[in-house]
Amino acid sequence: MFNDSVLNEIEGIKAKYPDRRSALLPSLYIAQREFGWLSHEAMQYVAKTLNLPEAEVRGTSSFYAMFKHQPIGRHLIQLCTNVSCMILGAERLADMLVQKYGLQPNSTSPDGRFSLVIMECIGACGTAPAMLVNTDFHDNLTEKRIEEILEGYK
Ligand code: FES
Repeated sequence: MFNDSVLNEIEGIKAKYPDRRSALLPSLYIAQREFGWLSHEAMQYVAKTLNLPEAEVRGTSSFYAMFKHQPIGRHLIQLCTNVSCMILGAERLADMLVQKYGLQPNSTSPDGRFSLVIMECIGACGTAPAMLVNTDFHDNLTEKRIEEILEGYK
């Protein structure tokens, strides 16, 4: 269940909108922040807090790639391998993540530190290859640069 601080945060969001449905995406984001992923139980909390049908909450959350429906590592790496990034070596970078960190796409490293998702274009084609780590954006990636970046995520 949400603690009082989280409930207050969601109530504050609800108060900004005439329709409580408008608070659904930010509330799901908060639930994921609190629990690490959106379990069935977490979505029930959101539905109850917003007084919305559970099916609507599940349907909305399943539409967006940013919402995770299974446990993930402490840090989520989202690596783009679409055309610009692929041309500039993203597949080589994905191979490096497998070799060095044991990170297959859609898996979590054995130490639980990272999860990896392969993304479509994240809008940084001009400075490809690019990735997100949690909500942090990183571009002009090389193997060495990824190693340096990931050192910052313990
Ligand atoms: S193709 Fe990777 S950011 Fe656009």
